[in-house]
Amino acid sequence: MQWDQDLDEPYIPVRDGVRLTPFHAGDTDALYAVRSDPAVLAASEIDASQYTLVKAREYLDRMIKSRARVIDLMRRGEQNDQSPFDVIRSYPSGELLGCIQLHLVEENNGTGSSDQSGVMESNRSRREYEVGFSVSSAARGTGLAQAALSALIEVMIVKVLKGAAVIADVKDDNMASRRTLEKCGLRMVKAFNPEDNPPPFENYRGSILLYRRDLAISSADVATPAPRSGQ
Ligand SMILES: CC(C)(COP(=O)(O)OP(=O)(O)OC[C@H]1O[C@@H](n2cnc3c(N)ncnc32)[C@H](O)[C@@H]1OP(=O)(O)O)[C@@H](O)C(=O)NCCC(=O)NCCS
Repeated sequence: MQWDQDLDEPYIPVRDGVRLTPFHAGDTDALYAVRSDPAVLAASEIDASQYTLVKAREYLDRMIKSRARVIDLMRRGEQNDQSPFDVIRSYPSGELLGCIQLHLVEENNGTGSSDQSGVMESNRSRREYEVGFSVSSAARGTGLAQAALSALIEVMIVKVLKGAAVIADVKDDNMASRRTLEKCGLRMVKAFNPEDNPPPFENYRGSILLYRRDLAISSADVATPAPRSGQ
């Protein structure tokens, strides 16, 4: 993890000209464009009519406020259980290329939790982090999600948060996402289908696959993101 002195924010390098960064106040339109993309709506089962520019702005305001606290803890070298790296961003243009989500799975799944101040408990060895990601339609096709997710896992989840595992759920027909997860070292561990094994998530139709990577596995098992044509 590095610190941009000019912007006074932490960042994680992803590839030449791309970083993981926190949200910025000017991200509303780009965030709305990514989130209202038909492929992104289909992947998350969000009803298109329910997602508006106003909702995007409200979400962004909330995130910027809550991440300011996380960034402040990082600045002071203190631990917390959240990541402020919500955006895949072009550098130095600042263009938002995609979004990435990371959160600690709750206690009922056998993992830890933080106290009210967000400061981590001492035992982090069982913590599982769930990830999600989306890339703007214009930026797809160059393995950007794999590069971004790999950077998030190796830097944030492994080194900073010292997580024990990373998990993700994905629709079985979402081949780009499945391939991205597999290239980041996750493997399918469970399949849910509406008929005889419904997924324990709300609003999902169809079959859902649960992917997981235990972080003790060797990084040799993980494909190195390679530059492709067009980069
Ligand atoms: C998933 C997503 C982030 C991937 O974007 P990306 O990083 O640009 O991915 P790419 O287009 O480079 O494809 C990644 C891999 O999937 C493969 N892939 C893409 N579409 C595919 C398809 N329809 N069938 C099979 N493989 C496919 C690519 O060939 C590539 O694999 P390779 O490197 O071995 O060639 C993007 O498609 C997206 O934003 N989708 C909508 C949101 C979403 O589905 N999020 C995930 C929710 S779990």
